[in-house]
Amino acid sequence: MIQAGDTYDPLLKRPFSIFRQEDNTLQFLYRIRGKGTLCLSNVKKGDTLDLIGPLGNGYPIPKGDFVAVAGGIGIASLYALIEQHKNRAHAFYGARNKDELLMLNEVSKFSKKICITTDDGSAGKQGLITTPLKVFLRNNHLPVYTCGSMPMLKTIFNIIKDTELKCYASLEENMACGIGACLGCVVKVRSEKLEVRSKKSGVRSQDKKNLTVYKRICKEGPVFDLKDIAWE
Ligand SMILES: Cc1cc2nc3c(=O)[nH]c(=O)nc-3n(C[C@H](O)[C@H](O)[C@H](O)COP(=O)(O)OP(=O)(O)OC[C@H]3O[C@@H](n4cnc5c(N)ncnc54)[C@H](O)[C@@H]3O)c2cc1C
Ligand code: FES
Repeated sequence: MIQAGDTYDPLLKRPFSIFRQEDNTLQFLYRIRGKGTLCLSNVKKGDTLDLIGPLGNGYPIPKGDFVAVAGGIGIASLYALIEQHKNRAHAFYGARNKDELLMLNEVSKFSKKICITTDDGSAGKQGLITTPLKVFLRNNHLPVYTCGSMPMLKTIFNIIKDTELKCYASLEENMACGIGACLGCVVKVRSEKLEVRSKKSGVRSQDKKNLTVYKRICKEGPVFDLKDIAWE
């Protein structure tokens, strides 16, 4: 959570992925969206930034080859995984246009294979990244790591829901505290089991109804098993 300016406007820190970490340096990759990120873009060398972190839970470490699916700035969340596991990632990288395919040369260099799509066809194939991903996953049973828009994540869910494939997704939501206190960033997840303690016997039993519970993206996430999300 980074304080974007040195005034109280914007008041709240903004959440960012740790893009890279090298020696004593943390690197962030961001897109200017509103006031906070605009303030951040005016930060100069030598300025001081107030931040809290690292927070939440990241991706599990891949054991072998894996699929990395990035939608636009979602690459900021996946980049370190791709760089640290050289030649292991089958990267699927989609963006609105070629200018939004950040770090493309590096992602290509560190990946085993890369597939690119853009909405306007200015780089790679024109269309959504989930189209070639669907074809790839038919014949390649690898774990999927992903970060991007909710519609993209939902499409990936629909691709993998009836398969044995694992998919770890980093979710995004507006955040206020970033430390689990305000409950402003919750997502509904499925919980097949609810532990119930019998009043009489004190014995625990498990109710296996199709239940949903809320989880905090900043605390229990931001990375969740995509199949656990309770899609409406
Ligand atoms: C865990 C996590 C990691 C993130 N990592 C990165 C990163 O590495 N690089 C990066 O560029 N961005 C990242 N984001 C998104 C980033 O936090 C927002 O873009 C930023 O907070 C916008 O702040 P702002 O003041 O510039 O815009 P605001 O004025 O707060 O918002 C501008 C617009 O963006 C929308 N918006 C704001 N925050 C989000 C969000 N989190 N998700 C979707 N829409 C949002 C608002 O609804 C509004 O429409 C991450 C978000 C989360 C939750
Ligand atoms: S942002 Fe406050 S609980 Fe997640």
